[in-house]
Amino acid sequence: MKVLVTGATGRVGRSLLLHKPSDVDVEVLLSPVSQQLEGYAWYRTDIADYEKTRMAVTCADPDVVVHLAAFTDVDECENVPDMAFKFNCDGAANIAKSCAECGAKLVFISTDHVFDGISGPYTEDDRPNPVNVYGRSKLEGEQAAAEHADKLLIVRIAVVFGKRIEGTRHNFVSWLIEQFQSGNTVNAWNDQYTTPAYLEELTRVLWKLIDKNSTGIIHYGTSDMLSRYEMAINVCKTMGFSEGLVMSVSFSDVNLIAKRPLISGFVTDKVHEILNMPPVSFANALFHMTET
Ligand SMILES: NC(=O)c1ccc[n+]([C@@H]2O[C@H](COP(=O)([O-])OP(=O)(O)OC[C@H]3O[C@@H](n4cnc5c(N)ncnc54)[C@H](OP(=O)(O)O)[C@@H]3O)[C@@H](O)[C@H]2O)c1
Repeated sequence: MKVLVTGATGRVGRSLLLHKPSDVDVEVLLSPVSQQLEGYAWYRTDIADYEKTRMAVTCADPDVVVHLAAFTDVDECENVPDMAFKFNCDGAANIAKSCAECGAKLVFISTDHVFDGISGPYTEDDRPNPVNVYGRSKLEGEQAAAEHADKLLIVRIAVVFGKRIEGTRHNFVSWLIEQFQSGNTVNAWNDQYTTPAYLEELTRVLWKLIDKNSTGIIHYGTSDMLSRYEMAINVCKTMGFSEGLVMSVSFSDVNLIAKRPLISGFVTDKVHEILNMPPVSFANALFHMTET
C-alpha cells in the first residue's frame, strides 16, 4: 500500500512516519518552506494551489492520502481568517478533488473545535457548531472533503500530547515539561475540558484504521476529560515536579484571542469497538511516556 502524507513535518505527521508499518510505502507532500525529510520521496507544494496539489497527488498515485497539513494556530486563525479558510478549507477541497481524480482514499484529521463545547463529550453523531475561526475552517474542510472525495475517513482529535519529536512545535505536555524543568510556574485553566490525544497511540490507531479501510467519522482521545489544570497536575505527579508550579486560573483570565469549546472532547466507544482495543487514560499515557 502506498500512502501520501501531507503535513508530514508537523507533530502528528512526524509521529505517523515514526510508527509507519514496514509494509507501507510512504511519500510526503511538503509545504514550500518545509524542512526536507530524509528517506522519503517528496513533493513540494502549497495545498492552497489546486493545480500543483493535483499534480503532486496524481504523480504520487497513492492508495491513501493522510491529510494533516493545516493552519493550526487557533488564536492566529482569528487574526487572519482568510488564511485559515484558504488552508483549512480550500486546501482540504484541493486534496479531496485530487484524491478523487486518482482513486485514492482520503483520511482527514479534524478537531473537537468543530463543536461548541456546551455539552461535550461528543459522539460522531452530534451536530457540529464551531465557536471560532479555526473550528469553522476545519468544519468547512470536512464538508469539502465529504463533497469531493469518493472514499473518506474523518478522524477528529483534540490537544495532541506526547514526546516532542525534534523539529516539531511543542505540544501542551512537552511545553509543560520544559517549563517545569526550568523551574517556571505555569497558569493552567481549570474550566475548559477535553479528551487529549496521546500522540504515540494516536498514530498507531491511524495506521490500524487505514489498514482496516475504515470510513465515516471517528472520534479519538483519552478515556477521561481533563482541564489544562488537571493535565498539568497529572504531569507533576507522574514526572516528579512540584504541584506548586501549577497556578489554577479561569479560561477567562488568560485573555486568548479565540474562544474555545469549554466542555468538549469525545466519546470514543466507536474507535475502541472497531479496533477492539481498551481506552487509555491520560495518566496511563503519561506513564507510558516516561517508560519509553
Ligand atoms: N496538534 C493538535 O493538538 C491537534 C488537535 C486537533 C486536531 N489537529 C489536526 O491534526 C492535524 C495535524 O496537526 P499538527 O499538530 O501535526 O500540525 P502542525 O504541527 O502545526 O503542522 C502543520 C503541518 O502542516 C503543514 N502545512 C501548513 N500549511 C501548509 C500549506 N499551505 N501547504 C502544505 N503544507 C502546509 C506544515 O508544514 P511546515 O510547517 O513544514 O511548513 C506542517 O507540516 C491538523 O490538521 C490539525 O488541524 C491537531
